[in-house]
Amino acid sequence: MTRILVLNGPNLNMLGIREPGIYGSESLKQIENNLLQAAERLGVELEFYQSNHEGGLLDRIHAAYGHTDGILINPGAYTHTSIALRDGIASVGLPVVEVHLSNIHKRESFRHVSMTAPVCVGQISGFGAYGYEMGLLALCKHLGVETN
Ligand code: DQA
Repeated sequence: MTRILVLNGPNLNMLGIREPGIYGSESLKQIENNLLQAAERLGVELEFYQSNHEGGLLDRIHAAYGHTDGILINPGAYTHTSIALRDGIASVGLPVVEVHLSNIHKRESFRHVSMTAPVCVGQISGFGAYGYEMGLLALCKHLGVETN
């Protein structure tokens, strides 16, 4: 069965409480539950990991090598700063889809640059929690999973 790792970076454990006007009212748990339902329909297996630490996320990316078919990631603020995560994604060579709840391109200029997007298959940004489902679908299509 196709295995997908869903990674969430710093402060995303605070979804639902954190700036709901920007990030919405759904908790990470609710987002993960929605993804599980979508995964069941698609017939793929998901694994979840959230960390507020860059090294923890990096270790999880490395551990995915050889065990996971693709990664769905919201690197949070590390999107804009982390050359280490970018290099980690490039190191394992797995297909990665980057997701952002908010549209990072219409926010502060420091959010306009993504260190990680250039080593990802693509980026989904601005569709709120639904973006995770869009990202999962896009990743499944990319992996050749039957999505109809
Ligand atoms: C975010 C956007 C980032 O700029 C921010 O630092 C986050 C969340 C998003 O999902 O919209 O933590 O990745």
